[in-house]
Amino acid sequence: MNTKELIKTVNTLLAGDKGLLAMDESTATCNRRFEEAGIPQTIEYHRAYRELIVTTPGLGKCISGAILYDETIYQATKDGVLFVDILKQAGIIPGIKVDEGTTNLAGFHGEKITVGLDGLQQRLAKYYALGARFAKWRAVISISTVHPSMGCIEANMHALARYAAVCQEAGIVPVVEPEVLMDGPHNLKKCFDVTERVQHVLFDELFALNVNLQALILKPNMVLPGLSSSRQADIDTVAEATVTCLLQTVPAAVPGIAFLSGGQSPEMAAAHLNAMHVKYKDKLPWALTFSFARAIQQPALELWKGKDENIEAAQKMLYKRACLDNAARRGEYRAEMEKEF
Ligand code: G3H
Repeated sequence: MNTKELIKTVNTLLAGDKGLLAMDESTATCNRRFEEAGIPQTIEYHRAYRELIVTTPGLGKCISGAILYDETIYQATKDGVLFVDILKQAGIIPGIKVDEGTTNLAGFHGEKITVGLDGLQQRLAKYYALGARFAKWRAVISISTVHPSMGCIEANMHALARYAAVCQEAGIVPVVEPEVLMDGPHNLKKCFDVTERVQHVLFDELFALNVNLQALILKPNMVLPGLSSSRQADIDTVAEATVTCLLQTVPAAVPGIAFLSGGQSPEMAAAHLNAMHVKYKDKLPWALTFSFARAIQQPALELWKGKDENIEAAQKMLYKRACLDNAARRGEYRAEMEKEF
């Protein structure tokens, strides 16, 4: 394992007030988002959209790493420049989603297991040669009156730890994503308890499989009430619950935590990250940043609508969202800034 190289990549990804941009939607997810936005669901539209993202002026000032999808890592601009090269020129480290989605977890009705460990070593070698220096694997844990089961948590965290170990051997920094989904009517306390249990099991598994905690980035959910909960929480309560939960579970050796947005609005995701920085400035053992997909991309996608004449406006919007997330990382985000751009 080349620990020095891994730690250098981690430090670059976490530097300053930058964050990660997840642009790794699978073909099915991308098609779903395009359909909702009235955009044709073809490979050429996928490519054009990803070109819009990677060529956004100034993106490298706000984003340190971009997570690509297998389809995207081979794609190029219409002028033939590989997206990976555009990112590198902008000072953005290319990353790659390497899980292969979820399937039903046998023996556990209604729960999912993430797949993709078979052949992972070979795929990572290929991605490394293409320029990827970090990867992502997402485990999905849902909450209901009977879920999650301990079996589902253990199976998923074991797979995450195996993925992380294989990545580190390949010179690729693992972004470890155990996502407790927001869907459902559960309250904030339930999300806290499930997230806490998931993180405990995750770090047991990472330890058991000799994963170097200093050479990974954790990508968790924030601690929030379910989307259909009748009791939503205020911004400071979410910030406090999230940081408390992570302080109790995430070792100080972990260099950084980059949150997913998970279906929060872009404004709420930024406000929550900001509140964590305001309240806990200089008191946390790890860097706290973002690794958002929808909370950065969604407003830009809706402006683009698949039309060339909207590219400039969509890029400005993407840049604006990334800049506001930088402000949140500095603890300087204010709701009024939404109107200033
Ligand atoms: O795996 C999920 C993405 O990387 C983050 O997506 O910010 O839309 O939850 P999100």
